[in-house]
Amino acid sequence: MIRDLTVSGGRVEFTVMLTTPACPLRSQIERECRSAVLAVPGAQEIAIRFASNVVRDPRLGRKRQLPFRNTLAVASGKGGVGKTTCAVNLAIALHRLGATVGLLDADIYGPNIPIMMGVEARPRVKDERILPLQAYGLKLMSMGFLIRPDQPMVWRGPMLHKALEQFLNEVAWGDLDYLLMDLPPGTGDVQLSLAQILPLTGAVIVTTPQDVALADVRKGMAAFNQLEVPLLGVIENMSTFVCPHCGERTDIFSHGGGRRAADELGIPFLGEVAIDPAIRAGGDDGQPIVAVAHHSPQAQAFMDIAGALAAKISVLNMEQPAQGLITDIPVLG
Ligand SMILES: Nc1ncnc2c1ncn2[C@@H]1O[C@H](COP(=O)(O)OP(=O)(O)O)[C@@H](O)[C@H]1O
Ligand SMILES: [Mg+2]
Repeated sequence: MIRDLTVSGGRVEFTVMLTTPACPLRSQIERECRSAVLAVPGAQEIAIRFASNVVRDPRLGRKRQLPFRNTLAVASGKGGVGKTTCAVNLAIALHRLGATVGLLDADIYGPNIPIMMGVEARPRVKDERILPLQAYGLKLMSMGFLIRPDQPMVWRGPMLHKALEQFLNEVAWGDLDYLLMDLPPGTGDVQLSLAQILPLTGAVIVTTPQDVALADVRKGMAAFNQLEVPLLGVIENMSTFVCPHCGERTDIFSHGGGRRAADELGIPFLGEVAIDPAIRAGGDDGQPIVAVAHHSPQAQAFMDIAGALAAKISVLNMEQPAQGLITDIPVLG
């Protein structure tokens, strides 16, 4: 991880190359480097630079030339648990941490990304490629940009497959460290099609904390196992409510079900996001909380989960045999 090491007199300088700019261990690494170097006799001064080179999912490199280093599905057993909210805020969190991020609304029948990202426009086409729309530093694509809001989507499986294929292959995404995909609820055609079109680096399951959560998570896990998609972990959304007036905590949908489900099924628990009217309002107004109130505890929760996810993805990619694939990737600042 150490590059560009120079020593002149008592001054030691080097760059630490991280596997993701969202690395949650950055400050720990910095501390440990500092104390290790300063323990060397003669070392008096130290300057550490950080850079990153996001590890590419080796399977994405192998299958065909896709511009994504990693693809991440945000899923849940049922609707209304906050998948889209999590997908939007996690994508912005990864971008804020320094990654290049795209967000694909794979909820073809009920696209919510346009409203939640506050984008109402039609994508342009250039050189036979669809140009993604942009907001809050993300590249976006959604069926909602292509249809009228009141137009119902009644499509057969093959049409849906074709639409997803176009979104992945014919959109000018450019190089992305992470492509996040907001899935429709449950385990259906979209999940199947996506897994057929490209290798998914991993999936996260969003759940609310009630007892039924376990059944939902188990269902999602079984589906992704069948599709050979690694499960990166569980997020408990609407975890608790802290009254803004008196500070008292109320567990509206109970609490802890997400962690229990993750523990019981042997998958990582990635973190909790509280119920916060500001999250709901931000969704309705196209002003995601991580973008507009990044000092709030809820935004911080999304930032922490994004870091944990990026770390899981790095570890997963480094565990896989790269099969001789050497990626020549520019260094991010
Ligand atoms: N942590 C939260 N606090 C408050 N409201 C939330 C939270 N998470 C989601 N919501 C709201 O709940 C509703 C459903 O969320 P959504 O992300 O659309 O769920 P899904 O994509 O799973 O159907 C939306 O109105 C959203 O703003
Ligand atoms: Mg949704």
